[in-house]
Amino acid sequence: MGTDPFRVAPSPWIARFAALVPAGGSVLDLACGGGRHARLFLDRGHTVTAVDRDVTQARLAEGAELIAADLEDGSPWPLAGCGFDAVVVTNYLWRPLFPTILAALKPGGVLLYETFAAGNEVFGRPANPDHLLRRGELLDLARGLTVAAYEDGIAEHAKVVQRIAAISGPGPAELP
Ligand SMILES: C[S@@+](CC[C@H](N)C(=O)[O-])C[C@H]1O[C@@H](n2cnc3c(N)ncnc32)[C@H](O)[C@@H]1O
Repeated sequence: MGTDPFRVAPSPWIARFAALVPAGGSVLDLACGGGRHARLFLDRGHTVTAVDRDVTQARLAEGAELIAADLEDGSPWPLAGCGFDAVVVTNYLWRPLFPTILAALKPGGVLLYETFAAGNEVFGRPANPDHLLRRGELLDLARGLTVAAYEDGIAEHAKVVQRIAAISGPGPAELP
């Protein structure tokens, strides 16, 4: 039996922190690509909305609501008024979207974000600073959220990444 080229494994970071998302909660996979994380959360029993400018790649994310949208061309945000229990972004960076990502989190919602970081240019692409997180950038994005885990400048598998798992609102230790 051959390997299904579309069954690409989820990021270990996203898989590791998937359990932070409340059971049955809604998940938004932004710039979903082939839909590996949409599938991960569908398999975990979540409702999933997946957005990409090219949703033809995500055809195996059956069960997800697939939305074709260009996130960078100034079009209106396709999910206005919608809140999610988690927003997942991997291997994608468009800084003007940061406020929208945070606004899409319901109270208690989980931000799972992992992408290339400064230093990756040593290994190859992406090398454009527009596509590389600056040191501490995801921590800055998650200011005011409860950070469950954060890694910065980790070089592995010939790439440099930064990643975060954070929960909207105060953590249990800060609750009255
Ligand atoms: C490197 S892939 C990552 C896919 C997926 N998140 C993953 O990690 O498997 C980047 C994705 O961003 C999408 N993308 C790039 N520019 C976009 C834009 N302007 N609007 C929406 N999606 C975009 C691409 O179509 C592609 O699927």
